Amino acid sequence: MPLTPDLLARDHAHLIHPLHDAAAHQSGHVWVRGEGAILIDADGREFIDGLAGLWNVVLGHRRRELADAARDQMTTLGFVSGYCGSSNPRAIELAERLAGLAYPAINRFFFTSGGAEANESAFKMARSYWKLRGQPGKAKVISRQLSYHGLTMAAMSATGIGGYWPLFEPRVPGFIHIPAPYPYQGETSPGTAYGIAAANELEKAILREGADTVAMFLAEPVMGVGGVIVPPDEYFPRIREICDAYDVLFASDEVITGFGRTGKWFALDHWAVAPDMMQFAKGITSGYFPFGGLGVSDRIAEVLDQGDGAWMHAYTYSAHPVGCAIALRTIQIIEEESLVVEASRKGAYLLDALRAHLGSHPHVGEIRGCGLMCGVEFVKDRATKTAFLPEERVGARIHAEAQARGLFSRIRGDVFVLAPPFVTPDPLLDRISEILASSTKAVLG
Ligand SMILES: Cc1ncc(COP(=O)(O)O)c(C=O)c1O
Repeated sequence: MPLTPDLLARDHAHLIHPLHDAAAHQSGHVWVRGEGAILIDADGREFIDGLAGLWNVVLGHRRRELADAARDQMTTLGFVSGYCGSSNPRAIELAERLAGLAYPAINRFFFTSGGAEANESAFKMARSYWKLRGQPGKAKVISRQLSYHGLTMAAMSATGIGGYWPLFEPRVPGFIHIPAPYPYQGETSPGTAYGIAAANELEKAILREGADTVAMFLAEPVMGVGGVIVPPDEYFPRIREICDAYDVLFASDEVITGFGRTGKWFALDHWAVAPDMMQFAKGITSGYFPFGGLGVSDRIAEVLDQGDGAWMHAYTYSAHPVGCAIALRTIQIIEEESLVVEASRKGAYLLDALRAHLGSHPHVGEIRGCGLMCGVEFVKDRATKTAFLPEERVGARIHAEAQARGLFSRIRGDVFVLAPPFVTPDPLLDRISEILASSTKAVLG
């Protein structure tokens, strides 16, 4: 007798889920175990974890080393305040470690329980920085359409995917969106012009709003939730120039891209650009503990240190010793197993496999990626790049077929996104491509 229906009925009686949708959840899974890149449900069925949990389980499931790190810390000191006047050795070690890994000017860290809190902390850091520097009017945040920055009120207001807003509006004022660089959809003729033009949207917005009202620009180096959108090479260098020219802080949301996902420790390194702030979460603990943070440049840290009185921002779980211990162990394993290089190699391998299996399909518009983050965009007409109608539910139907064949990931509209654990064996990457190809065939012929 399958166990899932009964578990789902009990689930429905008492749980409210993130992105709650009671009808959709009726065909949900109840996961009971994981092993490497494999998830096992309550009825013993195995699925490839195509998104490493939610882009975060970089080391794969059932890593005993992380459990040992948690147990050691919990049996020594399970919790202590990280508030001013109180610290712990794991937090100190982790901040030291991150200073060695992050962009050279970023050497000071504030820890949170996840990505949205990291972004909230960035907004508050930017506003306080300008206030402490005598420019209190610099308060606005510019981000991009299609971006995802989390769903607390301010992070939701920065998020540029409009579907997250309607039930919860009004949004926090002072959050502005510019178009994102989307080479596949936006580029009319390939070349340098598109990336520069896309970056210049930031300059236009700063001039429109007034540079003396803009605190910061926020961007994911590679957009994840929005559909794995990789910017043109010239985009971020031009963004950096614009931020410098108008005294706007540049915050890099590395919640997905951080800790190796794109084949670099941090993703702006692909373009030799450094931000003023970086937000991280997810991969830092391989998802085994809710943890994140904000790194700031020396320039920002100096202003903060010189502030008169306290910086009135805090979370109970900031610098949680268990989170810090798991983060330290995660980083150690990423280094010992050369997983940043592996993410780069496996990403190229997966992209090749996807192209081999799906590249010639008439409804596959683009197969793209950066490191071990890939997206397959389905379109109605490949020549004109015309999208399917939403009511055709093409992405959702391919997603359902993929699950029936043992691949579990997520879709954004008609983009199937993939970001498996860094330890996924090559044959499983081939299997992902085969499953996606046969699922596509089942839906689109
Ligand atoms: C780029 C980015 N920023 C922020 C977040 C929010 O993180 P959390 O869900 O931990 O609040 C996410 C989550 O997917 C993300 O992808």
